[in-house]
Amino acid sequence: MPSLPSSEKPKIIQRLQWLFNPLELMAESTRDYGDFVNLSIIGDQPITLISNPQAIQEIFAAPIDKLDARGSQLLKSLLGEKSLLLLGGTQHQRQRRLLTPPFYGDRMKAYGQIITNLTTEVINKWQIGEPFSVRDAMQEISLKVILHTVFGIYEGERFTELQTLLCAILNFGDSPLRAAVNFFPILQKDLGAWSPWGYFLKQREKIDQLLYAEIQERRDHHDPDRNDILSLMMSARDENGEAMTDVELRDELMTLLVAGHETTASAITWALYWIHRLPEVREKLLNELNNVDENTDKNEIFRLPYLTAVCNETLRIYPIVMVTIPRIVQSPMEIMGYEFPQGSLLLGCIYLTHRRPDLYPEAEKFKPERFLEKQFAPYEYLPFGGGQRKCLGMSFALFEMKLVLATIMSQMDLKLLDHIPVKPVRRGVTLAPSGGQWLVATGKRERVKNTAGV
Ligand code: HEM
Repeated sequence: MPSLPSSEKPKIIQRLQWLFNPLELMAESTRDYGDFVNLSIIGDQPITLISNPQAIQEIFAAPIDKLDARGSQLLKSLLGEKSLLLLGGTQHQRQRRLLTPPFYGDRMKAYGQIITNLTTEVINKWQIGEPFSVRDAMQEISLKVILHTVFGIYEGERFTELQTLLCAILNFGDSPLRAAVNFFPILQKDLGAWSPWGYFLKQREKIDQLLYAEIQERRDHHDPDRNDILSLMMSARDENGEAMTDVELRDELMTLLVAGHETTASAITWALYWIHRLPEVREKLLNELNNVDENTDKNEIFRLPYLTAVCNETLRIYPIVMVTIPRIVQSPMEIMGYEFPQGSLLLGCIYLTHRRPDLYPEAEKFKPERFLEKQFAPYEYLPFGGGQRKCLGMSFALFEMKLVLATIMSQMDLKLLDHIPVKPVRRGVTLAPSGGQWLVATGKRERVKNTAGV
């Protein structure tokens, strides 16, 4: 039986590279060792980075008595220990069942108008000829969308405050340097409000107060007609008829706000970059969107083939989440000839799988057409992970991505400013385009009759 190769780099170098230059670390690892390699990048135990589709298929298909999963404990300080991302086993299954109804396909329809209205609000602030920070604008949209859909109609002091505090706490991990606080627990010392950790704890406490106040108010004044995500969460019951506790509600709210905001904002920012970087992509997309107006059924927009291909390729070339949630081997198992004892940690590498030349010829090129020509299996294309832990918000994220892009592209002409380099950088646990004001509005869009097919 072959033994697993391990990176020979000193642990501290691997860890720093994972933090500051994860793409290089992953590319070097597969070049030097192949589809399986042991790395020392998180925690005390080595973790096996896997980028072989067949192995990923086996991982996604494994039942939880073989492979369980638990998100990085580093997220516990922000999300709380009852967060879906951090739970394993039957606790995870229970919580996942309770959280699923608001994310069912049909529920999405209710969110469509909110998404397009909030996008238009943000677009209206752009001045012709003035460059703007795409990331800030997309973050504003995605934060408002998630707050709106989670809480329903939200107005007043509590939500303005919540929006400001969430922005502050999420921006806390925006640079690799500050993300280091999350990766090196030794830096997690409260040395007063001015120390990074002290500041983080203070902000978290304020957010908790607001979330608990909202939960309490809804318990005191129950309104059966509300159908926002929090209301659906509060009325959900498990098989024993039990509802979620306040702590569970708080932790899941925080999970949805965090998981649903940063990721989608980065995805739309990347899409806008590629669309304006490649004139032929922009032209084909505009051609398709010329048939769309404000009255078009939002589900029809969701199904547009070229827009779908552009979103898929955006999430392939630089997947926002580079690796899956770590899987933990529960009883010894063999994958493609490698033996994994109980307790081994496996990390499906989304980035490397998406860059395999045998699956994606010219993998470094942005080519939406590959998704029109071929259908990929869920273990070949996996921007949202897979199996029991597949992203809960996948349909929501794709729906939002497409509606925001369609709204922007059909209302504004934008231009990429070539002199500002845009490159992938770590932002917390995600891979985002670097910041800066690299897009400029050149004019409001006139609708042109579509004459050619895509
Ligand atoms: C483009 C946007 C997004 C991307 C690329 C993304 C990607 C992912 C990935 C890769 C995972 C891990 C899956 C695995 O290990 O198999 C995940 C899990 C998760 N995502 Fe997303 N996500 C996005 C948006 C969202 C949104 C909008 C929400 C909620 C509103 C959300 C909520 C979650 C939750 C709760 C989990 C944990 C699921 C579990 O442990 O059972 N995500 N996501």
